[in-house]
Amino acid sequence: MGPNVVWLTEALSQHLDLQSDMRVLDMGCGKAASSIFLAKEFGASIWATDLWIAAEENWQRVCDAGLDQQICPIHAEAHQLPFAQGFFDVLISIDAYHYFGTDDLYIGYFAQFVKPGGVIAIMVPGLAHEFTEGIPEHLKPYWEWDFCSFHSAAWWNHHWQKSDQVEVIQADFLPEGWKHWLQWQQILVEQGLRGNSEEYSSEAKMLQVDAGRNLGFVQLIARRENV
Ligand SMILES: C[S@@+](CC[C@H](N)C(=O)[O-])C[C@H]1O[C@@H](n2cnc3c(N)ncnc32)[C@H](O)[C@@H]1O
Repeated sequence: MGPNVVWLTEALSQHLDLQSDMRVLDMGCGKAASSIFLAKEFGASIWATDLWIAAEENWQRVCDAGLDQQICPIHAEAHQLPFAQGFFDVLISIDAYHYFGTDDLYIGYFAQFVKPGGVIAIMVPGLAHEFTEGIPEHLKPYWEWDFCSFHSAAWWNHHWQKSDQVEVIQADFLPEGWKHWLQWQQILVEQGLRGNSEEYSSEAKMLQVDAGRNLGFVQLIARRENV
């Protein structure tokens, strides 16, 4: 669903010490491509949790991938998660956290589901730096209002750190991330894989015009405080 989700998951997972005996929450997993990748690559158990995609649909994909002993599909809203506190070793979210995690209090709620000292890692579309003087002229023709949830690595770092519930250990704007995003958009348009191809080609044009000056991906990795 999101741009180049397996590539993003692989990039993020390189910073995590994922082991086969770990329980991982994949929050906003969409069609569970990231969950399938993580289960196959690391042998971990994954709770593939999403709102827009039904658990039954993801269960079928999980079974087709032969991972029915490793991945549990869950249909849940991000603010009403049906898990025990401290249940997970790692919380991951790819191209989804900006939909539900930009309010100040969410990280405190989310972090309770990982054990104290456990890791929380997200990858989101984001900015090289905050737009302090408004949206740059070259982006205005393509800008959608909900891109207002895109933020810089420094913004995300502060957003989590100020809660005092987690310690941020890494906050980066991915070098060349925009190229992977653009490649994804181009493939969707070329293959006619989306109904509204105008929206997708507009996003591709925006990425081309911007050429990584502002748009890309932010990765953020933190540890839950040991309290
Ligand atoms: C752009 S899709 C990305 C899906 C997947 N991670 C990927 O990269 O292919 C964003 C996902 O966030 C999930 N999402 C958005 N708001 C949510 C919420 N309030 N609670 C749970 N999931 C939510 C949607 O269900 C959707 O699948």
